[in-house]
Amino acid sequence: MNRKEKLKIAVLVSGGGTNLQALIDKMADGQIRDGEIVKVISSREDAFALERAAKAGIATAVAAEQDKVLAELQESGADIIALAGYMKVLSPEIIRAFRNRIINIHPSLIPKYCGKGYYGIHVHRAVIEGGEKESGATVHYVDEGVDTGEIILQEKVPVLEGDTPEELAARVLKTEHKIFAKGLQKVIDRVQAEKPQEDEGGR
Ligand code: GAR
Repeated sequence: MNRKEKLKIAVLVSGGGTNLQALIDKMADGQIRDGEIVKVISSREDAFALERAAKAGIATAVAAEQDKVLAELQESGADIIALAGYMKVLSPEIIRAFRNRIINIHPSLIPKYCGKGYYGIHVHRAVIEGGEKESGATVHYVDEGVDTGEIILQEKVPVLEGDTPEELAARVLKTEHKIFAKGLQKVIDRVQAEKPQEDEGGR
């Protein structure tokens, strides 16, 4: 099989961007192959993730409204979209335009502690209040629902006696960085594998 062009990845962010940084670092050291980040789009102009992107020489944009996000995504030529701490729900138009090409990292073991209201530190607080002995992280496809798309990868993380939400968040975040990269690689490989078939007229 001939060597393929790298797939274009657009990353959507809203905050600190440690998951974005994990993708940047793992692409630089070859742990993620056949993909390059072409644009980072933030829902907030004060997101530190934008500084991480600029430092890595990646084009950035700030867009809160979904029609502007869609325009930025189309302009970037993205093949795959990675939601890395993105705190908005994508419009049905975006889901339709990039069906099965959008992935999200979520800081719990979906289907537990996900959906509306479960994001960021709220997830970890609820896990502790729920008396859980384990939590974890999930990489999944994004569909029209909130955290309802097909699961790509999931890994457990222990909840320790006396954990604060912040301590649990930090432990889960390390696992997120690992499985987000692995999950993205799986999707890159899947999309790459589909390409020759498309060229042959599909099967
Ligand atoms: C991460 O824990 C991510 O899983 C979570 O926000 C954090 C962003 O951290 N995302 C959600 O809760 C989405 N529902 P980061 O900006 O350092 O990557």
